[in-house]
Amino acid sequence: MPKVKKAIIPAAGLGTRFLPATKTVPKEMLTIVDAPIILYVVEEAVQAGIEDIVLIAGRYKYAIEDFFDTSYELEDKLQKDGKEKLLERVVKIRDKANIISIRQKHALGLGHAVHCGLPIIGKEPFAVLLGDEITMGFHGQPNVTSQLVQSFEETGTSTISVMKVSDKDVSKYGVAEVEDTQKGYFRVTSLTEKPKPTETTSRWALPGRYVFDNHIMDILQNAKPSLNGEIQLTDSMKVLCKEKGLNAMTFTAERYDAGDKLGYLQANIELALQNPELGPELKSYIQQLARKLN
Ligand code: G1P
Repeated sequence: MPKVKKAIIPAAGLGTRFLPATKTVPKEMLTIVDAPIILYVVEEAVQAGIEDIVLIAGRYKYAIEDFFDTSYELEDKLQKDGKEKLLERVVKIRDKANIISIRQKHALGLGHAVHCGLPIIGKEPFAVLLGDEITMGFHGQPNVTSQLVQSFEETGTSTISVMKVSDKDVSKYGVAEVEDTQKGYFRVTSLTEKPKPTETTSRWALPGRYVFDNHIMDILQNAKPSLNGEIQLTDSMKVLCKEKGLNAMTFTAERYDAGDKLGYLQANIELALQNPELGPELKSYIQQLARKLN
């Protein structure tokens, strides 16, 4: 069975539910506790055994490319500012994986962004990690990409992660209709991008982690724009599930939508609670605060 050694991380578009981003500070560079969001995403890929990571960046995303570059100025500054731990994390990534940057010249949607990775992906299977979501397996649990890679390598079938959402959140996500297989995963029968709650009976939403058979690249090659005039990845996944099959898995890892205001706050609080330097003090602060709120 082919191994999954490559991944695409598309930097997100500027959706209205997201934090404002600027030319110099795209939202993937906003800090969660002590590192930019993008570093957590790249670390997830590396922990899953990915060796080549393709960052797909639109206009104004230079800061993301620069962050992973060997840069005397940045490294010197991190050292002077006493931020060696961040530097160590970046150096570790560079030792374990190749970070390759491809510019998406036109903002034509997520499907188009993923297809921009073709020159590096070639004919191999690959993972996709959306650049503004963080997933983390605490206490030795695997992260979401690790779970998907393992499933793909066992079954040979593209696998995506799904999570249950409430009626009011259905229209924020791609949604998968699934059948039970009793083998620890679902079989996807159809997908819809951001449906109204009345347009699907499914509440299984796509949180932005996927492992694909290379056939998705052939489908994306001929994909046409749909919702919002964009080439939607979900449309091509719908074709993939008919032509080659597509599995869906739930996950035990924590997931934070770090590009969303509330998700960003939650990620900061929960990851800071796990941080040995900040955790104990933050915990007693939250306990005091909770008493005041009661
Ligand atoms: C994208 C995808 C959608 C997925 C979502 C996860 O939408 O198109 O299928 O469920 O990410 O966050 P976006 O949030 O970029 O509008």
